Formats: sequence, C-alpha cells, structure tokens
Amino acid sequence: MEFENKVILITGAGSGIGRAAALLYAQNGGTIIVSDIDPNGGMETVEMVQANGGEASFVHCNVAVYKDVQQLIDTAVERYGKIDVAVNNAGIGGASWNKTAEHTLDDWDNIIAVNQTGVFYCMKLELQQMSGQGFGSIINIASIAGLRGLPNNAAYVASKHAVVGMTKTAAMEYAKRNIRVNAVCPVFTVTNLFDPDKIPVEGLGDKLRGAIPMKRWAKVEEMAESILWLSSDKASFITGHSLSVDGGITA
Ligand SMILES: NC(=O)c1ccc[n+]([C@@H]2O[C@H](COP(=O)([O-])OP(=O)(O)OC[C@H]3O[C@@H](n4cnc5c(N)ncnc54)[C@H](O)[C@@H]3O)[C@@H](O)[C@H]2O)c1
Repeated sequence: MEFENKVILITGAGSGIGRAAALLYAQNGGTIIVSDIDPNGGMETVEMVQANGGEASFVHCNVAVYKDVQQLIDTAVERYGKIDVAVNNAGIGGASWNKTAEHTLDDWDNIIAVNQTGVFYCMKLELQQMSGQGFGSIINIASIAGLRGLPNNAAYVASKHAVVGMTKTAAMEYAKRNIRVNAVCPVFTVTNLFDPDKIPVEGLGDKLRGAIPMKRWAKVEEMAESILWLSSDKASFITGHSLSVDGGITA
C-alpha cells in the first residue's frame, strides 16, 4: 500500500475534507495524526479510521496558537518519529458575508489568524522537522478563492491567496532538501464550512453552482483523492503547484 509506514499529519481532520483525507490515507496504509480544535470531531475521525482497521491518534491543536502547533509537531514526532506528509487543512469561513467596506474587523482578524497565520505556523515547524529528517511532502488546503476574487469574502480570499503564495515560496526554498510543498484549491464542497442551504443571500446558491461548468458542488472524497495523489511519490516532480479541483470554474 502506497502510504504503508508513512506518518500523515492532518489539521482540521475532525470534519469535512480533512476527515475524508484521513480516511483515505488510512485506507492506503498511512498512520494518521488527526488534529483539530474540536476534540469531539477529532476523536470521531480517529474512531472511524480505527473501525476500518486503520491506525490513527488525536492531538488537540488550535492552529492559530503557536504553542499549540509546537506541541502538535512535538507530539507527532515523539509518537511516530517522523512526519512524511503534512496536510494543513484547518480553516474557517467567517460569519459575515459582506462587501469589503462592511467586512467586520472581528471576521478579518479571525480568518487571517486561522487560515493564513495558522498555515504559516504549521509550515514553519513542519519544515524544520522535515529538513532535519531529510524528506517530506506538504499539502496546504487553499481554495479557488486563492486564485481569483470572490465577492463578499475579502478576508477569506486574502487568506487563501496568502496560502498559495506561501506554498510557492516554501516550495522554492526547500526543493533541494527533498521537501515538496503544494496546495489543493477546492471549489464549493459540501461540509460544515460550506452548506448550500445556509447561504445568506436568496438565490446565490443556484448562481454559484451554475457558475461551475460541471453544475454541481464538489464532494469531500474528490478533494481527498487529489490531496493524496499530490502528496504521494506519484507526483514526485511537482512542487509549488496549486491544483484546482473545481469542476472547471477556473478554466
Ligand atoms: N468546503 C468548501 O467549499 C471549501 C472550499 C475551498 C476551500 N476549503 C478549505 O478546506 C479546508 C477544510 O474545510 P472544510 O470545508 O472541510 O470545513 P469543515 O468545517 O468541515 O472542517 C474544518 C475543520 O477545521 C477545524 N478547525 C477550525 N478552526 C480551527 C483551528 N483554529 N485550529 C484547528 N482546527 C480548526 C474545525 O473544527 C473542522 O473540523 C479549509 O481550509 C477550507 O477553507 C473548503
């Protein structure tokens, strides 16, 4: 199996895309460190992996808190000795759906702290560990909002553009050290973060779905497959890439 004897760290694995990735890596032989700010969701993912015969354990971490991320990386290395793949997936959408002038300051601060600074904290410490061990593969979960504008989401779009930029930069810095750094950019995927039934503007859901050439929302399993492939040795010469998984919307 492709990920046998490999240690996979996933932030925000207590739900949605992160959980789907945890289940798929485990099916492919990986040992999973399930991390999340929400211990209930995280433990649920661990139990799901174990129920399928896979190996996983939970580490609590708020990615916006540097000492939490330090503890996450330390615990992962104490438990398993190395990190082969890190999936920096934890992210939030924010409460407001407002034009830039009306965007709340709280939403700005929270979204940037989790989606942008959180990815930076994780990358910083993962790259230190991976440099020491001499190998590694990082996948950052950005968004199509990291590649184009999305009205009413200034902070989210800014944070995801930053993730794409940090991915490119780290890829160039660490290519010689046998570390690949890539991003996956999902389109609207049905999860707790994106519930089409809760879009606060009448008719906007249909409009957004209609803008996707494949005319449907993405599934978490489709994101997991792309994350797995891009992190695997099958993508061994790919680094600094942002892979749109988007039904054609950025074509
Ligand atoms: N669902 C979509 O349409 C979509 C589209 C593009 C990108 N994304 C990105 O995919 C990633 C996963 O989102 P999802 O859709 O699966 O959402 P989700 O809400 O189902 O999962 C996100 C997980 O992250 C955890 N989390 C939130 N804040 C955290 C923090 N500070 N520290 C650690 N964990 C935290 C949550 O508890 C949750 O388990 C996010 O980065 C999101 O921005 C999602």
